[in-house]
Amino acid sequence: MRRIRLVLASSLLVEFADRETALGRIKEWADRGMATVQVVYGPEGCGKTAWLRQSAELLREMGFDVIYIDPLHQQFATHTDMADIVRRLSEAAAEAFGIAQIKLATLALEFAREALRRGKRKVAVLADDVFQAVGLDKAAQYVKGMLGLIEYPPRDYDVVIAVAATSEGITRREIGRHRWADLNAMWNMPKEGFKRLYEQIPGEKPAFEDVWRWTGGNPKLLGRLYEAGWDADKIVERLAAGRDLATFIKTLSGRERQILAEAVENPDALYTEEGMPLMEKLRELDLALDLFERKPYLWVDVPPPERDPELGIGKYVAWQTPLHMEAIRRTLENVGR
Ligand SMILES: Nc1ncnc2c1ncn2[C@@H]1O[C@H](COP(=O)(O)OP(=O)(O)OP(=O)(O)O)[C@@H](O)[C@H]1O
Ligand SMILES: [Mg+2]
Repeated sequence: MRRIRLVLASSLLVEFADRETALGRIKEWADRGMATVQVVYGPEGCGKTAWLRQSAELLREMGFDVIYIDPLHQQFATHTDMADIVRRLSEAAAEAFGIAQIKLATLALEFAREALRRGKRKVAVLADDVFQAVGLDKAAQYVKGMLGLIEYPPRDYDVVIAVAATSEGITRREIGRHRWADLNAMWNMPKEGFKRLYEQIPGEKPAFEDVWRWTGGNPKLLGRLYEAGWDADKIVERLAAGRDLATFIKTLSGRERQILAEAVENPDALYTEEGMPLMEKLRELDLALDLFERKPYLWVDVPPPERDPELGIGKYVAWQTPLHMEAIRRTLENVGR
């Protein structure tokens, strides 16, 4: 498989690393077919987009007609000889913000239907951040549209692959309640694979163990750290400022602040009757997420370790990365408990 090149930071291109398990899942689906849509969610910057883009390449090599769309950022990529549809996609992508998003999302399904109509036997739709683009209320409907490709195709086919990725915790619940899709979680990169990415970074850099302890294997933060001259404090401050954590913490009750302080030591403190409302807020702020069981079939790649307090990973709840946890810790100290 040709490995795609990705922009990790401004003026830093890297080669796609690791994610063998997740690419293996794509191969399995490509070989055996899919009975339902697969929705993948995971922490911000954990590598969902990179995996989908590499999957597009893998599927092309396996003889699929592929469409990858990211309507939110008005981007798409295709592997196909259907030039007329590609032209329509390009026109749609050039439209005004908002209109393009809906059009691209719709055209992706149209691409697949048209490919099948024209007698293609292997078709893949990889939809990135599509729920944010079509709106939360339409997310389930969109998944149903993807399922329609599998269940009610315009013509007979060999394999149709339909995968959607999202970082929205809320969408997950909306999708999860229907039987139209299987939910798969993706975690930050496993240590060995993350090391291979770290090794691609040129110049002087901190020891791998330090970078691992800061990022917990989150590739986006690795890029941010590189850009910030490896100044982890800067990243923590940016995370805190970006989410206005000071204001957030000021709105919490004394008891909630106490729970939050406990959760910095042990994230499972949020997985209690008392902690749940706070957990909901942290999920909405993209700071923490609840983990399913570690059963491999619920995960698209390697699940997180069973527990690793240093990385902010509990049995039931995890901080998105250790730096997110650190941002909370410091803001709590500054604002006062
Ligand atoms: N397997 C990988 N190999 C090399 N680089 C990667 C890999 N995974 C992610 N990256 C890089 O890390 C950064 C974040 O990854 P990506 O954008 O795929 O995350 P994401 O989960 O889609 O994030 P978001 O939640 O913001 O959509 C990008 O610069 C990407 O190129
Ligand atoms: Mg993404």
